[in-house]
Amino acid sequence: MHTLVANIDNIPNYDIKSKRTQDVFASPKCTLSPSRLTGLVCLANIALVQTKEKSINILGIETSCDETAAAVVADGRIVKSSVIASQTKLHEKYGGVVPEIASRAHIEKIYPVITEAIEQANVSKDDIDAIAVANQPGLTVALIVGVTAAKTLALTWDKPLLAINHLHAHLQSAMLAEADLQLPAVALIVSGGHTCLYDYHSPLEPKLLGSTIDDAAGEAFDKVANILKLPYPGGPAIEKIAKNGNPDAIKFPRSMLAPDSLDFSFSGIKTAVLYYCRGQDMKGENKVDSMSAKQIADIAASFQAAVVDVLVKKTQRAVEKINAKTVLLGGGVAANTQLRTALQNMCDSTMPAKKLLVAPKQYCTDNAVMVASLAYHKFKAGLFADLTLEPKASSK
Ligand code: KG4
Ligand code: ZN
Repeated sequence: MHTLVANIDNIPNYDIKSKRTQDVFASPKCTLSPSRLTGLVCLANIALVQTKEKSINILGIETSCDETAAAVVADGRIVKSSVIASQTKLHEKYGGVVPEIASRAHIEKIYPVITEAIEQANVSKDDIDAIAVANQPGLTVALIVGVTAAKTLALTWDKPLLAINHLHAHLQSAMLAEADLQLPAVALIVSGGHTCLYDYHSPLEPKLLGSTIDDAAGEAFDKVANILKLPYPGGPAIEKIAKNGNPDAIKFPRSMLAPDSLDFSFSGIKTAVLYYCRGQDMKGENKVDSMSAKQIADIAASFQAAVVDVLVKKTQRAVEKINAKTVLLGGGVAANTQLRTALQNMCDSTMPAKKLLVAPKQYCTDNAVMVASLAYHKFKAGLFADLTLEPKASSK
């Protein structure tokens, strides 16, 4: 991808009224490479829509894990529609996401979900300025469904294509309600697959400060829920029963790693819960079946407290390191009330106090609003993808 300076005059055969690119590609006069040309044409389109002072509508598509989602967002923050087909029921009995099942379900749902998002937004394809898709990180077999749909729409509707990093999009969802962001900011993204801290200076260039070296926070919630024989996804189930438990009942370990480390490790807490339920030698049966509801609630509350404690302390370290004025929180685990409250308390009690921006609950877990919202910034910067776009399991 390239940032290009638009000069419509430089594009041979570019028809500014129809905004079509085919003629340009077909032109014998054209010596530019297809991706450079696509960039120039896209920027010419931006210049066109901006001169008309029309808002920029982006169709976002998200299929990185177990939610098939599409949304239309205007100017990066006006949500015109958001449709999510969740696969939770399909994966529930396996206690986690099964990639092949996820992929097949995305294929079934992608067309109806996109159609509904466009209908709900009350727009036609002509009102859509670009197609954005999360192409990394995630399950490759799941990502490919969204990427293929987005490339097909970009080609057949003749729209620019934008490639979005799913994690950076989670971070963007914390920005939906805020017009005035005080920088520098620390962003904590806590999801089922990732736990990351970023130094956030601009939506387009978050710098990774630290991430988990083993399990993600959401993954730990899901695995502990499995040990406690609670339903999948584990986060909401643990949060619910933890309300009846004592967070100080059991002292589960808090892995802080090196004193200046901004990385995370959650496999130790998960193993500690397993040992607690099956005995130190792991020879005993899982005692959960014979425990009282109060004992299970105590385990859930103590586990949740340990995870929240680590997340907040590491975020505080990051805040001190970059002298942040704002903390952003996003990702599925950001729906957790204990985490929100503890981070708020940390932000209020540091001197000077920090501002906490949390993603609205409906945009914490996977959705396409965050994809379309971040895509707006890429659109304005002219950072377009071309039809060679591929899904990538990791963002490294
Ligand atoms: O961001 P997300 O929808 O998908 C990924 O990108 O992974 O996050 C899903 C994760 C799951 O692990 C789920 O258990 C966790 O978010 N989660 C929660 C809560 N709601 C969802 N964890 C703790 N408390 C919650 N209320
Ligand atoms: Zn996610």
